[in-house]
Amino acid sequence: MAKKLIVANWKMNPETPREAKEILTPVKKIAQNLKRVTTVLCPPALFLPLAVGAKPSEKVAVGGQDCFGEISGAYTGKISPTQLYYAGARYLILGHSESRAAGDTDAAINHKLRLALKAGLKVILCIGEHQRDEAGQYLQFIKQQLEEDLKNVQRKFANQLIVAYEPVWAIGIAASGPDNPESFHHQSIYIRKIVASFLGKEAAMDLPILYGGSVTSKTAEAFLKAGEADGLLVGRASLDPAEFGKILKIAEAVK
Ligand code: PGA
Repeated sequence: MAKKLIVANWKMNPETPREAKEILTPVKKIAQNLKRVTTVLCPPALFLPLAVGAKPSEKVAVGGQDCFGEISGAYTGKISPTQLYYAGARYLILGHSESRAAGDTDAAINHKLRLALKAGLKVILCIGEHQRDEAGQYLQFIKQQLEEDLKNVQRKFANQLIVAYEPVWAIGIAASGPDNPESFHHQSIYIRKIVASFLGKEAAMDLPILYGGSVTSKTAEAFLKAGEADGLLVGRASLDPAEFGKILKIAEAVK
């Protein structure tokens, strides 16, 4: 069985390097001892060197939370995918709903995604509808996101792709709570079907599909087991080392 991928999205937290270390030290200690889990820590880019530490590790990788759509140049305040790679990141979150809300378009996400794949990063592409409707319009919305965000991606890069299904209504403090594992399972079958239509069946079957949105140690097992998620993208709960440590151990124990 493939390893579970547990991704921590710290967002713009914490404020100080000291607090970052207080999360990193205990989390890394737990993550290093797991055999069936790959942990990916996505701190703010400034804390990447802290998160990478002295020895890069396969079990505990680090990732960026977004990037700019150029490799270098006169782009004040921006960070390129190659810079993230050379800072030690091996993963990159793209298309997070908070970045989309701040103006990220599907075309821009697609451009960044193709650059990031070339730079050697594994891309965690976030998709998800704002609301569910009885008529099933939200399914069309997800299809469109996938088609536009993954447009013209070469098949040779398929093994660097990860999709995180994060219904927007389930994310963050204002969320109504997480989705349910059965619904996630249906969504992941649907996502594979769409991806198969342009990247081929094999790539679609091998594609890791994560669940994200209000995951805690109380819901992690259900999404991994009943929902058959290949992993989780964890926001708030990843800032609490005890809680995130519990989620990692749950993922290790899932059969
Ligand atoms: P949450 O965030 O776990 O705090 O809902 C998830 C995410 O935004 O990736």
